[in-house]
This record gives sequence, structure tokens and C-alpha cells, in this order.
Amino acid sequence: MDGSAQLATSMTHAAEFSLRWATAGDAVPMHFGEMDYGCDPEVLTAIQDRLRLPLLYPPPTKSSPVSETVAGHYRESHGLDIPREAFWFASGALAQNAQVMSALVGPGDVVLCRYPMFPYLLEVIRNTGATARPLPSGPRGQLSLEALEAALTPETKAIYLVNPHNPTGESYSPSDLQSIADAAVRSKVWVVSNELHSRLTFQGRHTPFAQLSAAAAQASITLSGASKSHNLAGIGGSFAFSHNLDLLERVRRHAGHAISEASSVQQVAMTAAYRHDSPWLVDVRRRIRSIHSLMTGALSSELPTLRVTQAKSTYFLWMDLRSLIGDADAVTVLRSQCGILACSGLDFGVDPSFARLTIAVEEPVAELALKRLVSGLRTLPGAS
Ligand SMILES: Cc1ncc(COP(=O)(O)O)c(C=O)c1O
Repeated sequence: MDGSAQLATSMTHAAEFSLRWATAGDAVPMHFGEMDYGCDPEVLTAIQDRLRLPLLYPPPTKSSPVSETVAGHYRESHGLDIPREAFWFASGALAQNAQVMSALVGPGDVVLCRYPMFPYLLEVIRNTGATARPLPSGPRGQLSLEALEAALTPETKAIYLVNPHNPTGESYSPSDLQSIADAAVRSKVWVVSNELHSRLTFQGRHTPFAQLSAAAAQASITLSGASKSHNLAGIGGSFAFSHNLDLLERVRRHAGHAISEASSVQQVAMTAAYRHDSPWLVDVRRRIRSIHSLMTGALSSELPTLRVTQAKSTYFLWMDLRSLIGDADAVTVLRSQCGILACSGLDFGVDPSFARLTIAVEEPVAELALKRLVSGLRTLPGAS
């Protein structure tokens, strides 16, 4: 199927169940963060089997299979031991992040986080009354310990990491993470590590923050889940863990009943997703890696001044169109010149010349988007 036919098919079919496709019009919808690759059949089977049983309150996660399975994943993939009582399974990543942040920071506090920053998470920090300030990073993203320590004022109460990063798809190196851990431990600042995209790492290996050292594990709480890696936005479910059981207890007590525990269906979905790296997941990583490399390769040769980040994880293309559009709004230009819907850098706390495009689309749609990008952006005065 060629790109236009695939676009039309997806538009007709997916508009019924996808906000992204329902709002596409005649554009290629690359704005919201979700994949067009269905769900992992192993997860679907587990959910369908579970739906045949009564949908009652689930057994406690300490004795149901979910905590053991997720702990098994961390042990086998990262050599990290997480006791079952160190987990908290909840109904959704965003809401669980919000609960953790509102337990730890409030008005007058400062939270360091890396810009660009996923807009909903910026809101999560700001809604606590705390101020979000940029985590200092060097020209190629490396963190200097001196700059980091200088940024940690008495008001700084937490460092909020999104690792791998939404929107750039970059990951912190183990040495950057170590600098963050050293600075946080020395200054008694909490590290909240959002690792929701970690299982979509397609180049190199993900380093969980808690794996760095016992001190890093004690100073941190990690949040993750299967909603991104396994395309389960419509099912939800998430988890947090901390080796610091007092910290975990503090955030759980704060949350009270403001967020539900993971339902039985969510627990079953996470259990199936964390049992192993299924053939579906391995294939998804291959597809996004290949689309990312196709698009970045073609864009750098056709539009050499366009800056596109080399991602190592997840399914976004993060680009800076400044050389082509100056101070104009990238999203407006992408819509009008290329027929592509994207998210604006402005929402991520940076210049409007930046845009994020979701590339986890069917390959013909990716090729069509690439064709539209090249032909649309080539007509701009800054392109020649
Ligand atoms: C880094 C990050 N955290 C949290 C969320 C929210 O996840 P969920 O929709 O599963 O609550 C997202 C969604 O894109 C995300 O990218």
C-alpha cells in the first residue's frame, strides 16, 4: 500500500478510536505520542483471558504476580534487585507522577528538570506550586557536576528526570546519572526518575537510576509502566518503586485515594508486558529505529541546515527548524507547508522553532511524511 492509501485507510479506521487520527483532517497526524502498531498479542491474550474471570478487586500486589514479574525484569535486564514491598502499582503514569511530585514539593520549592520537557509533566511540577528550573547541561547534553551543584540552591527539593527523554529520545549516560546522584545525595535532594520510555531503547542500554548505587537508590523514586512501550494508553496502569521504603510510604500516604491502585486488568497487562521482551516488542524497536534512521538520514542530506536530534530511544523526531523559519512557529509551518501535525517546542518550554513528531506510524505513512517534509521545507527561503 502506498503512503496516501495507507493514510486514507488509517484515517477511516483509526479515527473511531484514536484522538490523534480523529483530529488529523487531511494531514499526517504526528502530534500525540502513541503508536500505530496495535498491541502486543501476548498482552492482548492475557487481558482477554483475565476478562473471562470476575472483575473483582485484585489481590494485593505483594502477592499477585505483577510485582514478582516486574522485579524479575529489573533483576534479569539490569541486575537490580527490588524487594516486592518497594513497589506501588497504580492506575496511570501521569497521575502517579503527579501524586509523587505533590508529596515531595510545594510552593516556594524548586525542581530541576531538563528542557525541553514534556508539557504535562511541566504542569505536574507547576501544579504543586513549585518552580521548574532547567537542569544545567553542556553543549552536547553532558552534565557537569560543578554546574549541577551550582544550580542546587537551598530551595531545590527535587531533580525530576525523564530518562529516556521525551521529546528528544536521548538517554542520560551512566556518568551523567552518576553526577546527578552524587549531587543529589550530597545536597539531600530527591531524584524522581521517570523511565516510562525505557523499554523502547533501540540503541545502547537503558540505565535505571536506582541501579547506580545504594545511595542513589535511597535518594530516588522511579516511575515506569507499559503504557508507552506496549501502546496501552487505553488500558493505563503504571508503577513506582523506591528502595527507600520511608519515601515510598510518604508518597503513598500523601496520595491516599487520589489515585486508584492498578486494577486487575492493568496488573495482568503489566505482568504480560514485563514477562520478557516479546517478539512484538523487539520488532517495534526495530521499526522505530529504522524509521528514525530513514528520516534523519534523508532530512540531513536533503535539508542540511535542519537540526534533528539523534535519538536512542522511543518514537519521536525532535527538530529545530530555526535555520529555515527563523522565529516563526514550526507547528504552523509544518501544517501549512507539509500537511503534518506536530507538537510545538513552546509547549515543551523552548522556542517555537522546535517541533516534536511521532514516528511510530506504518512505514508507508512515514515515507509519505518524509516526502512531505522534504518537499514542503525545501520551498522555504532558508532552505537554500
Ligand atoms: C515521560 C512520560 N511520562 C508520563 C506520561 C503519561 O503516561 P500515561 O498516559 O501512561 O499516564 C507520558 C506520556 O506520553 C510520558 O511521555
